Amino acid sequence: MPEACILGIETSCDETAAAVVRGGEHLLSNVVSSQIATHRPYGGVVPELASREHLRAIVPVVRQALLEAGQTYESIDAIAVTQGPGLAGALMVGISFAKALAFALGKPLIAVNHLEGHIHAVLLEEKQKGNAHMEFPLLALVVSGGHTHLFLAHQSERGWTYENIGRTRDDAAGEAFDKVAKLLGLGYPGGPMIDALARHGNPKAVRFGPAQIKHRNRGTPREQQTLYDFSFSGIKTAVLRYVELESMRDSIAARRQALDAMDRPSAADLRALCDSKTLDLIASFQRAVVDDLVFKTLAAAREREVRTLLVTGGVAANSELRETFSIEAAKEGLPVFFPSRSLSTDNAAMIATAAWPRYQAKEFAVAEFSAEASLSLR
Ligand code: KG4
Ligand code: ZN
Repeated sequence: MPEACILGIETSCDETAAAVVRGGEHLLSNVVSSQIATHRPYGGVVPELASREHLRAIVPVVRQALLEAGQTYESIDAIAVTQGPGLAGALMVGISFAKALAFALGKPLIAVNHLEGHIHAVLLEEKQKGNAHMEFPLLALVVSGGHTHLFLAHQSERGWTYENIGRTRDDAAGEAFDKVAKLLGLGYPGGPMIDALARHGNPKAVRFGPAQIKHRNRGTPREQQTLYDFSFSGIKTAVLRYVELESMRDSIAARRQALDAMDRPSAADLRALCDSKTLDLIASFQRAVVDDLVFKTLAAAREREVRTLLVTGGVAANSELRETFSIEAAKEGLPVFFPSRSLSTDNAAMIATAAWPRYQAKEFAVAEFSAEASLSLR
């Protein structure tokens, strides 16, 4: 009997995505419609616009995913959809569509946690490479525009279970990239721009001490404190202070204006608009964030005697983060895995893959399930 095909649907933030995955490991299609152009003028995701764009894109995106997979509404075996975490209104578009589809077709519906999806993006590609076996305990750093979490994963009879041993106290790492890029007039989203520009600057030029990325326990109840927490709002303020001290405002305004006049600026266009002081600041900011992510994650891995490390989510696309993790984890003999760049950022292939063990266990969503903006992963 051919293995079951799952149609995955993802609308938690600013990508409308649908994908078909067979047997939890064969990627038949992966369609992502990005809303970057809609949100760019605002320098960040506008929730109401995101919901509206999902509503516009959902039908064509799902149709395209089925078409590319050589499937039809009738031939798929189940529908998986992101339940949360994410923007409530955005999640509801995908959930309403998936529910209606499941009801009309009489097919099972599976609710998936977006963060587990990011973890399964790595597993999907490793299975494709023939590396289906992962050693436990396993540590996953999920690092994106909305999340910076360390999950210790264990294997149990009912699949994987997760312990959240670290999280950001304020901004997510991707959010810090986006806010610093906005502050420096580099456009939106900031992560890919900073990634491309950082290699042209001196990462030691501006010193961001640990004080800027140290979290404070003040005000957090003891039971909510975890050992490996992150904090990225201080470094954003430190960048702002540097900009003021070095009188960089006028050159930033000029860059913003020049970029606004360009249709689709390339990394080279952007570089031409940055002086060496700006490039040094960008390189130093990226180095500080990367070092903090790498060294806290490796400390957690050591402490919890982790055997496998996964790094996933939008920021896992960052070149310096990948390189530093690869070098530092190798020194400790710890295998580290990343998704390819296209599966690092939001997609539905990861949702269809994470749904596979639930499909096999017949863990289907109840008809009343709804969007959970702050759904936690356990
Ligand atoms: O996983 P994702 O698509 O959406 C969320 O679930 O948040 O992550 C998007 C985030 C954005 O903040 C974006 O700036 C960041 O990932 N990002 C990067 C890179 N590519 C995307 N950050 C650093 N370097 C990159 N190359
Ligand atoms: Zn995500």
